Amino acid sequence: MSNDNLSATISALLEEKRHFDPPKDFQDKALVNDQSLYDLAAKDRLAFWEKMAEGLDWFQKWDKTLEWNPPFAKWFTGGKLNASYNCLDRHIKNGLRNKAAIIWEGEPGEQRTLTYWDMYREVNKFANCLKKLGVKKGDRVTFYMPMIPELAIGVLACARIGAPHSVVFGGFSPDALKDRIHDADSKVLITADGGYRRGNLLPLKHDADIALRECPGVETVIIVKRGDFPLHVKEGRDHWYHRLMQQAEPYCEPEPMDSEDLLYLLYTSGTTGKPKGIMHTTGGYMTGVLATTKYVFDMKPEDVFWCTADIGWVTGHSYIVYGPMANGATQIMYEGAPDWPDRDRFWEIVEKYGVSLFYTAPTAIRAFMKWGDQWPQKHDLSTLRLLGSVGEPINPEAWMWYHQVIGGGRCPIVDTWWQTETGAIMITPLPGVTSTTPGSATTPFPGVSADIFDEQGESVPVGGGYLVLKEPWPSMLRGIWGDPERFKEQYWNKYENIYFAGDGAKRDEDGYFWVLGRVDDVINVSGHRISTMEVESALVDHPSVAESAVIGINHELKGQAVAAFVTIKDGYEMGGALEKTLKDHVTQKIGPIAKPEKIIFSADLPKTRSGKIMRRLLRDIAEGRALGDTTTLADASVVQRLQRRYEEEVGA
Ligand code: WTA
Repeated sequence: MSNDNLSATISALLEEKRHFDPPKDFQDKALVNDQSLYDLAAKDRLAFWEKMAEGLDWFQKWDKTLEWNPPFAKWFTGGKLNASYNCLDRHIKNGLRNKAAIIWEGEPGEQRTLTYWDMYREVNKFANCLKKLGVKKGDRVTFYMPMIPELAIGVLACARIGAPHSVVFGGFSPDALKDRIHDADSKVLITADGGYRRGNLLPLKHDADIALRECPGVETVIIVKRGDFPLHVKEGRDHWYHRLMQQAEPYCEPEPMDSEDLLYLLYTSGTTGKPKGIMHTTGGYMTGVLATTKYVFDMKPEDVFWCTADIGWVTGHSYIVYGPMANGATQIMYEGAPDWPDRDRFWEIVEKYGVSLFYTAPTAIRAFMKWGDQWPQKHDLSTLRLLGSVGEPINPEAWMWYHQVIGGGRCPIVDTWWQTETGAIMITPLPGVTSTTPGSATTPFPGVSADIFDEQGESVPVGGGYLVLKEPWPSMLRGIWGDPERFKEQYWNKYENIYFAGDGAKRDEDGYFWVLGRVDDVINVSGHRISTMEVESALVDHPSVAESAVIGINHELKGQAVAAFVTIKDGYEMGGALEKTLKDHVTQKIGPIAKPEKIIFSADLPKTRSGKIMRRLLRDIAEGRALGDTTTLADASVVQRLQRRYEEEVGA
């Protein structure tokens, strides 16, 4: 089918508001193909989660399933377990010893397969290395790594000894790394000499050294050797991973962790300039990821799972490290870019390893769509049996393309809504049960009480509003590291004792959820969360900038992109040169993901009489809408001038 024909078909299908029932042969073999899980959870939510928790190995069973003192929840209290034991030890005892755990491909093409037995040995040894270097239960360990198996080994080793990890995405700048090391107060950093991305070298240790100049608290740095990248080794502080491992003892007793002991911190952007360290604990989190990995992906022993996320984001934590490994899965881990050396790299990998379950982001799907059908068509993708999507709303057109061109029309698609804060998938189809509709994440996972509220806190049966979670769930965040007030303020203030997700959503006549995107000052660029305030502070940090206001604008591929309105100080010249300087400045302060797509210079910004910038008006301008209420503006002529400038700049 030609592209034109395909789009015509897609539009036609959309007009029909198509439903896709689970294919019969998929359904017949699915782990769940009836309402039983939903019924169980509806009858007794806690009994449902207890049943899910029984899928883990506990050293000591819990006394109480839930202690709820809003907004603080404790799950499975009194229970003792270890996450690395659940991901490794129990499998090597249960006959999976020589099953492939991670099949890794480096971007340049190297391949490594680590069995559960290999992973077990590496994790045990590395846990002993950490202990020997003085890392103790409760110490935070920061990672700044490429996508190599040692990252998974490292975090599991931390989990084994009870040292919470804080993984910082390797694409973040030294400045961003520094802030996260300070906030977590980490004394140990684990990094690599470098990694590969689109044929380029990411000089991670070099960048880490820049951050470390301002991190005197870091006493120990461990460097994994990925390539032959030049670097500086600081005597006494820096250690090579492979040297430490040569002398390591083979077995490390897994620390019996309390169910509510901290498993990890993961920094994410919120509505202020300061990233927040989201806290996840052990028993509830492991229960959530174990259950959702199994049932959302219909994961069976013979499956080959591939989640294309980076472990630097929550998707990689939950659906590369903990969920699949707790389930004893075989999975693919790939280091690099989807278009290196060519635009069929992902499909080559799917074919080569016979991937059966594939989980990626809408941004990637839209890029594949744009690159054209010829790339996937070069490969045999017949091993695929289920496709997943996460990170941003998927537009129906991309959904249909994914379904037809990648899934050959035979694979159910699970569009999964969740967040760093929720720890695990919250709204999703169950592939053997739910009839799916392109663009909708459908209904809550069993045991999850999602709803849509209006401004007053009334549930909206059909129509739009704010997405909320009404009851605590096991994998929920336990707080923001070092800032309990912000935790309450951010998530629990809008409605009493109800978790407000920060997303807008609508519910259709079938009761299906359509997540529309953020309603706060967070922009979702290619599925990565960026706070407008963070970009604004990076901009005003530059000597030329007097003031800035950052908003998200729609973007064909990225979903959203960053647009910055900037007023500059006297003595600087507006124009292309300064625009580039400012874009580079943001990249340097935060990282390439936050780089503004567009900078609009302006003599002034629309403000209320009390001096607050009216971002809503900027969004109206950027999206070419009629201007909303302008009566509170201090100077109404500002917006007309801005509108003209915006049109000149972006040709809107
Ligand atoms: C958005 C990523 C629509 C949403 C797992 C959420 C989605 C934010 C979906 C969390 C989806 C995630 N449909 N929007 N299926 N999945 N989002 O913390 O705005 O990086 O609040 O977690 O991504 O992003 P985060």
